[in-house]
Amino acid sequence: MTLSHSMLAMEIVAPGGPDVLKPCSVPVPMPAHGQIVIRVAYAGVNRPDALQRAGAYAPPPDASPLPGLECSGTVVECGPGVTRWKIGDKVCALLPGGGYAEYAVTHEAHALPVPEGLSLREAACLPETCFTVWSNLVMRGKLKAGQKLLVHGGTSGIGTTAIQIAKALGARVFATAGSEEKCQVCKDLGVEQAWNYRDRDWSHLMAQAGGADVILDMVGGAYIQRNIKALANDGRLVQIAFLQGAKAEVNFAEVMTRRLTITGSTLRPQSEAAKAEIAAQVEAQVWPMIARGALRVVMDSEYPLPDAPQAHWRIEAPGHIGKIVLKVEE
Ligand SMILES: NC(=O)c1ccc[n+]([C@@H]2O[C@H](COP(=O)([O-])OP(=O)(O)OC[C@H]3O[C@@H](n4cnc5c(N)ncnc54)[C@H](OP(=O)(O)O)[C@@H]3O)[C@@H](O)[C@H]2O)c1
Repeated sequence: MTLSHSMLAMEIVAPGGPDVLKPCSVPVPMPAHGQIVIRVAYAGVNRPDALQRAGAYAPPPDASPLPGLECSGTVVECGPGVTRWKIGDKVCALLPGGGYAEYAVTHEAHALPVPEGLSLREAACLPETCFTVWSNLVMRGKLKAGQKLLVHGGTSGIGTTAIQIAKALGARVFATAGSEEKCQVCKDLGVEQAWNYRDRDWSHLMAQAGGADVILDMVGGAYIQRNIKALANDGRLVQIAFLQGAKAEVNFAEVMTRRLTITGSTLRPQSEAAKAEIAAQVEAQVWPMIARGALRVVMDSEYPLPDAPQAHWRIEAPGHIGKIVLKVEE
């Protein structure tokens, strides 16, 4: 297939607010060994895109400088050594960057088939959240059936996915969110108790409920000490972001006396092989949850690609619930 040489994309012209995202014309990416080129139908919008735009999350040196960590679409070119995919296959894929564009390139092992019964729009919302949640809750946090999970930001893209995956694993789930409406959304997804963090002492309430075996936290700052209090003995705190800062005063005595583990990870800088291993586990364990209706995409809103700035205003404001996507071409 002959692709056009240039494509529409949204670039970050300078670090700053949402309006630094501007349309541009750039070369269509070429696939290296083991890579595929995807004609993007939809691109997922994630909070790390907003951090990158603000200059607080630099892409790895070999990644596209364009934002966009996930997409769905059609394979239009296969690089040398690609064995799994052929031109015309419908996929959704984790990207090292470059999703806010008409074409994106990624390693073939980081692409997964569009789950049966899901639209391309929904499929675009899966890779970044499913990979992040599975690798942090299960591979790192060792969450098991019957254990208690506390998810902060329960109505975020990450939170709605974490609640459903944990429920599907047979865990008991608790959540925090910033309003009563959001707490109700968490309950509708199956959490036992959802606490409005603006007026409830979730740390005390979680400890009263027996303590969490795993906490998935994106807040950091003063939450770190409160998370330690909310953990059960042998509990695991898994840190995936620091919306309130990465520095805190913490009493580590409880880490020792109650055998706690503090860990965390970021997905993007991990090796190709590590992401391929996560992809394999997500396909084997999470895709069947989607097939049996235990995991659905909680969708907030859709914007055309050139309206990426509006999508960023939306994700950075407190109003959204679930995932935001950019429509590129279906
Ligand atoms: N480590 C990784 O690899 C990785 C990958 C993807 C995403 N992330 C991180 O995961 C987080 C969620 O990402 P997303 O794309 O799903 O973004 P998102 O939908 O914008 O989620 C951000 C969430 O943070 C919540 N929040 C803010 N302050 C809070 C507080 N004090 N207590 C409890 N919740 C609070 C917000 O809840 P309210 O609106 O209810 O206030 C909101 O739901 C982001 O911080 C992102 O950077 C990390």
